[in-house]
Amino acid sequence: MGIKLISQSEEATLQLGVALAQQLQAGDVIALYGDLGSGKTCLTRGISQGLGVIEDVTSPTFVLINEYHGRLPVYHLDFYRLESLDEIWNLGIDEYINNEGICIIEWAERGTPLLPERRIEIYLENKFESETETERQIEIRSPRIQVEPFLAVKGLVRC
Ligand SMILES: Nc1ncnc2c1ncn2[C@@H]1O[C@H](COP(=O)(O)OP(=O)(O)OP(=O)(O)O)[C@@H](O)[C@H]1O
Ligand SMILES: [Mg+2]
Repeated sequence: MGIKLISQSEEATLQLGVALAQQLQAGDVIALYGDLGSGKTCLTRGISQGLGVIEDVTSPTFVLINEYHGRLPVYHLDFYRLESLDEIWNLGIDEYINNEGICIIEWAERGTPLLPERRIEIYLENKFESETETERQIEIRSPRIQVEPFLAVKGLVRC
């Protein structure tokens, strides 16, 4: 139903993020779903880079929210350590999602009821059964995102 791609390397996932950034609009919410090590932070780094962020993008697992400044503000949230919707709500999440910035959320499944319906969902999966251990399946679900720009990225193939 969405755009399904295989990323063959960390660099390809990063460049997928850079390409995705060109299609983003102020106020977008990107919900990332996928296991530990599936590439959510790596993808966020690419999106941020594509938005012109020059600071280092690091995982907000402990700090819960990092804010960066590119052509738009970037809010990088991680719900991994949060155990209830109340806890997520108390982060002030409505300020980040109802905002002119780009909001990127790792472990979004922990807070789905609090997210807007118009979100862009991205599902990442480790493909450890393949001969290399660097393959990740990445599916983008959003009616607005076009596949063509991704097909020009080296190490990214449609599946
Ligand atoms: N195709 C790939 N895309 C992204 N990362 C890859 C790929 N192949 C290997 N890797 C490695 O997988 C790891 C991905 O780490 P990353 O921190 O992005 O995962 P994550 O989904 O954010 O995990 P967590 O749930 O712990 O936050 C990195 O060590 C990276 O080098
Ligand atoms: Mg992460």
